[in-house]
Amino acid sequence: MSQVTNTVRFVLDGEIVEAQGKRRTTTVLDYLREGLCRTGTKEGCAEGDCGACVVLVGQLNAKGTGVDYVPVNSCMQLLPSLDGKSLKTVESLKKADGTLHPIQKEMVDCFGSQCGFCTPGIVMSLAGMVQTNACPSRAQVNDALSGNLCRCTGYKPIIDATLKACQRPAAELKIEDAQDVALLKEIERDKQPTLGLEGQIVIQPVVRTRKGSEFVSPSTVDEVAKYLSDYPQATLLAGSTEIGLQVNKQFARPANICYLGNVAELLTVKETASAWMIGAAVPLEQVMHLVTEAYADFAEVLRRFGSPPIRSTATLAGNIANGSPIGDTMPCLMALGATLHLRKGDKKRVMPLDAFYTGMKASVLQPGEFITVIEFAKPKAGSQFKAHKISKRFDQDISATCAAMSFELANGKLKNVKLAYNGMAPAPCRAPKIEAVLEGKSPFDVKASEIDAAITASFPARDGLRATWAYRSLVARNLVMEFIETNEMETA
Ligand SMILES: Cc1cc2nc3c(=O)[nH]c(=O)nc-3n(C[C@H](O)[C@H](O)[C@H](O)COP(=O)(O)OP(=O)(O)OC[C@H]3O[C@@H](n4cnc5c(N)ncnc54)[C@H](O)[C@@H]3O)c2cc1C
Ligand code: FES
Ligand code: FES
Repeated sequence: MSQVTNTVRFVLDGEIVEAQGKRRTTTVLDYLREGLCRTGTKEGCAEGDCGACVVLVGQLNAKGTGVDYVPVNSCMQLLPSLDGKSLKTVESLKKADGTLHPIQKEMVDCFGSQCGFCTPGIVMSLAGMVQTNACPSRAQVNDALSGNLCRCTGYKPIIDATLKACQRPAAELKIEDAQDVALLKEIERDKQPTLGLEGQIVIQPVVRTRKGSEFVSPSTVDEVAKYLSDYPQATLLAGSTEIGLQVNKQFARPANICYLGNVAELLTVKETASAWMIGAAVPLEQVMHLVTEAYADFAEVLRRFGSPPIRSTATLAGNIANGSPIGDTMPCLMALGATLHLRKGDKKRVMPLDAFYTGMKASVLQPGEFITVIEFAKPKAGSQFKAHKISKRFDQDISATCAAMSFELANGKLKNVKLAYNGMAPAPCRAPKIEAVLEGKSPFDVKASEIDAAITASFPARDGLRATWAYRSLVARNLVMEFIETNEMETA
């Protein structure tokens, strides 16, 4: 299929929408409300926290026979990233004969709405969940709602409405999209790069302004590398959960945006007998499912990362490249000895994540260089992994600190200890002085005072917005003590 330059094409309820002449930073929410007058979708916070703007974005499934949907915060997603995809809003749910979707019907019958401002977003989060899980547990409903704030109804009637709707046959909960599959094939984006007369890669923009600012959406890593060689200052866009914030709150208008969400290689997870290689555009929700069995604590840190609409697009690479001191995935990945595969032009290098940061939001990444893969080991016999995130609220909150540790026990002694934190230093980091205290010791012989001394020697004492130093340092010590006290004893 050929691309139509300067036109964003997506499928909406059995029709192809062609959005023309829009800015590269127009959000999906703004286009829905102002361009299409679909005002059911609301703007609350415009920063991914309230969920009033949740819609479903769909893509053809692997076999090309149906559509897979994920919930997203439309306030954070840029319209050109919709090109080639399908969109469902709260208006999509009602059938032609006026019948409401079961979630909507039960929200009415169970008094799940009062002022109604949050209701479309809540309905879409729940409608999204039941596309893949028609029999959710109460805990799963809670998780699906973790990114939706309701200030007047209270959650009990909403949860009751969901569980009641889910008593119906799964087929009744499915979103009607019979016509959409053929249309999605019609607007499918090219999977191969366009080549010029001399065989050179020519990257077609989705949107380009007269001044030359543009949004490109390559399909191969080679195209990304070429684009970044031509425009080393270009902004890479993965899940948009940081960039969307910069656009909405800081009015950032990057001149060149390069979207990674259509690059097949970056959307792929490869594995060997001993390691996983996660492509830079793989969403966190997928990573969470991948590691659930092997690293339950890592999966739990990911489950508490934002909310389902955040995790459905946010990536490990975006978290790492953004380099927040309280980024949650980095302590887990550092404790697992993760490495980053980097590429600049044709040059590739692999480096340990714990050598990536050089300061607050500063890293060794060079202009034009980008992360292609995050690699980490599968569990080895005898290895243990622990992680825990401390935050003011349990769900949808950022860390005061998050600690992660991997180790082995050999003859009752701690071995190969890797400990990492966020929130303790200008960037997430390993804690070699604390590791040295632990290495070679029986967990029973480790004294809290030794850990305290190593913490004092390792990190600058500073109070932060999220926690005082007194609190952080105490928690940092207690997490280590908890990790070693709850170790699984050696079986040999
Ligand atoms: C409501 C909300 C809740 C959040 N909760 C959490 C939380 O619990 N824990 C947490 O740690 N963070 C949280 N975040 C922050 C954010 O979601 C994460 O940092 C996320 O991982 C960013 O990934 P992304 O794919 O969305 O990045 P994007 O916004 O697409 O990009 C972020 C940065 O990374 C760069 N980048 C992206 N991909 C690459 C690449 N392959 N190579 C080089 N650079 C790249 C971009 O250019 C940009 O500078 C939250 C954000 C919001 C809005
Ligand atoms: S408007 Fe609040 S999450 Fe989008
Ligand atoms: S019904 Fe008013 S905010 Fe939820």
